[in-house]
Amino acid sequence: TMKAFLLALLAQLCSASLVPEREKDPEYWRQQAQETLRDALRLQHLNQNVAKNLILFLGDGMGVSTVTAARILKGQLQHRKGEESLLEMDKFPYVALAKTYNTNAQVPDSAGTATAYLCGVKANEGTVGVSAGVTRDRCNTTKGQEVTSILRWAKDEGKAVGIVTTTRVTHATPSAAYAHSANRDWYSDGEMPLDALEGGCKDIARQLVENIPDIEVILGGGRKYMFPRNTSDVEYPQEERHRGTRLDGKDLVQAWHDAKPAGKVAKYVWHRRELLALNLSRVDFLLGLFEPGDMVYELDRNNETDPSLSEMVAVAIRMLQKNPRGFFLLVEGGRIDHGHHEGKAKQALHEAVELDRAVGLAGRLTSPHDTLSVVTADHSHVFTFGGYTPRGNPIFGLAPMQSDVDRKPFTSILYGNGPGYKIVGGERENVSAVDFAHANYQAQAACYGCVNGDACMQWVPEGGRQPRGCACGALHVAALGEPLLPSVHMQMEPCMCKQPCVCQLSPANLGEQVLPCTDVQMPPCVCSVTQHRTAAAHSATQMQPESTVSPPPCQPHYLFPLSQNGRCCAKFGVCVWFGVRGNR
Ligand SMILES: *[C@@H]1O[C@H](CO)[C@@H](O)[C@H](O)[C@H]1NC(C)=O
Ligand SMILES: *[C@@H]1O[C@H](CO)[C@@H](O)[C@H](O)[C@H]1NC(C)=O
Ligand SMILES: *[C@@H]1O[C@H](CO)[C@@H](O)[C@H](O)[C@H]1NC(C)=O
Ligand SMILES: *[C@@H]1O[C@H](CO)[C@@H](O)[C@H](O)[C@H]1NC(C)=O
Ligand SMILES: *[C@@H]1O[C@H](CO)[C@@H](O)[C@H](O)[C@H]1NC(C)=O
Repeated sequence: TMKAFLLALLAQLCSASLVPEREKDPEYWRQQAQETLRDALRLQHLNQNVAKNLILFLGDGMGVSTVTAARILKGQLQHRKGEESLLEMDKFPYVALAKTYNTNAQVPDSAGTATAYLCGVKANEGTVGVSAGVTRDRCNTTKGQEVTSILRWAKDEGKAVGIVTTTRVTHATPSAAYAHSANRDWYSDGEMPLDALEGGCKDIARQLVENIPDIEVILGGGRKYMFPRNTSDVEYPQEERHRGTRLDGKDLVQAWHDAKPAGKVAKYVWHRRELLALNLSRVDFLLGLFEPGDMVYELDRNNETDPSLSEMVAVAIRMLQKNPRGFFLLVEGGRIDHGHHEGKAKQALHEAVELDRAVGLAGRLTSPHDTLSVVTADHSHVFTFGGYTPRGNPIFGLAPMQSDVDRKPFTSILYGNGPGYKIVGGERENVSAVDFAHANYQAQAACYGCVNGDACMQWVPEGGRQPRGCACGALHVAALGEPLLPSVHMQMEPCMCKQPCVCQLSPANLGEQVLPCTDVQMPPCVCSVTQHRTAAAHSATQMQPESTVSPPPCQPHYLFPLSQNGRCCAKFGVCVWFGVRGNR
C-alpha cells in the first residue's frame, strides 16, 4: 500500500497542474489565515439585533462527510477543482457540533431528532411531536405526552409560518412541526393499524390540516395521503400506486380550504407553472403538493411540473414576508437521506447542493439585520470518501490506486453498509467495468452480513458516528477563534424568548440536549468559551481533513438553547451553521 501510495503521490507531484498556481505561493496561505483571523475578530462585535425572522434549513442525513463531498461537487459543477470552493452554509459566521441520539437509540432517526430540534424535547425514534413517554406504534401511550414545536410558538406570537420540503409534507421532519404521533409512518389512516384507529389516534395528514389550520405555506410532496382511497392522482391517473390512501373518505385539500377564515384566499396547487404564476400578494394561504409521495430527486426532476427546492423556498419567503411581525420557515432537503439510504451518492450529493442553493437564495431574499438562519442536519450516514484521491479528482471517481487486497479499483466514495454491497462471481465487483458516474450508481458497501438478507438492501442504517470533523471549513476556524460564542441564535423577539438561556460550555454539557432555562441572563446571552485562539491562525483550507473518514480532532462546540415560556429548545444535530451571513 505504501508503495502504491508513494507512486500515486509521485504522480501527483509530477503533474504540477493539480496545484493552482497561486497556491504555490506561501503568501497566499498566510493571507488567507490573516483574513480568517480578521473575520474571527470581527465576530466579537456581535449582532445583537433581535431576529424577527427565523429560517431553519435541515439537511436530512447531511453528516459532515456529506457536506464535504457536496462542497467539492458544487465546485466541480462550476468547473473548478472543488476542494477550495465554499458552500453557502460555509459563509455563516458560526458553526457548532451537537449530539443527536434519540432517547432510546444510539443511531437516531429523523422523527425523534425532528422532535428534539423543533420541540426542544428528545424523544424515541420513530415518534414525532411527543415526549419519550410514548412508545413507537403504541397509540395508547400518546395522550398527554404531546409536545409543541417552534412553528407553533411562532404562530402563537402572531408570526407567519411555513414548511417547505422535498419529501412528502407528512414525512418525519416536517410532521414534528405540527403533529403528535406514536409512529412517523402513519401518513394517512390507510397506513394505520386498527388498534391505533380504534384508540383514537389521528393520522399525520389530518393533523396537518387540523392541528394548526393557519400555517401560511406548505410546499412539498404527499398528495395521495390527502384523498380518499382509490382516487386517481391528478398527474399520474393511470398509476395505481399513486392513488389516494384515505379510508375515512375525506378530501383533506377541501378540508384545508374549508378551515380558512372567510375573506382569506387559500390556493392549492400541484404544478410548478401554477405555483410560479400565483400573484402572491393575493394569496393568504398556500398549499402545494407536487407529487403523490416524495418529490423526485433534483437530478431527475421534471422542470415543467415540479419546482426545485430553491423555487419553493423563494415563494415561501415572499409569502411569509408579508407578515410585519415576522416569520418562521422550516426548509428540509429531505432526500439527501434517501439518496444515501439507496446507496446513490450522486443523488444524495446533488440534493445537498440544491439545499445549499436554497440557503444562498434565502440569504439574498432576507436581511441579516432581522433574519436568523440556521443550517443543520438530524443525523449522519454511513457515507465516506477516501483513498488518497488527488486534488480535483472527480468526486464520484476512482481512487488513484487499487485495493491492496483484491487488486481491483475502488471508488473514493463508499458506504459502510447498504444496497451497493455486490459480489460478482464470489468477488467484489470490478467497478471499472461499470458506469460508476451514473446518477443511480450504488456505491460499494462493506455490508458483508447483509448479503443474504434484504433488510440492508432496503434500509441503510444511518451513520451512528458522532460527526466530529472539522470539515466545516472557514467557519469552524472562525468560530474557534471566537472567545464569545453567542447563544442567542435561535432567540427571536423578546416575546418569543423571554428568558434566553445561558449556555454553559463545559464538557458536562456535551451530553445535554436541553439546557436548563433556570440559568437565565438577559440578552446578550453569551457563552464564554475558552478556545485555542491559535487555532484561528490556521486558515480554513488548512483545517480540512484529508479524508472524511478520520477527521482531525477539533474543539467541540455547543449549541444554543432557545427558551420560550420556560422551555428550552433543542440543540441541533450534526454540524450547525448559524447566525447572520456575510463572513467568508
Ligand atoms: C396499549 O396497546 C397495546 C397494543 O398496542 C396493548 O398491548 C396494551 O395492553 C395497551 N395498554 C393499555 C394500558 O391499554
Ligand atoms: C378503483 O378505481 C378504478 C378506476 O377509477 C375502478 O375501476 C375500480 O373499480 C376502483 N376500485 C375500487 C375498489 O373502488
Ligand atoms: C398582484 O396583485 C396586486 C394586488 O391585487 C396587484 O396590485 C398587482 O398588480 C398584481 N401583480 C400582477 C403581476 O398581476
Ligand atoms: C428543463 O429540462 C429540459 C430537459 O432536461 C432541459 O433541456 C431544459 O433546459 C430545462 N429547462 C430549464 C429551465 O432548466
Ligand atoms: C477490472 O476491469 C478493468 C476494465 O474492464 C480491467 O482492465 C481490469 O483488468 C480488471 N481488474 C481485475 C482485477 O479484474
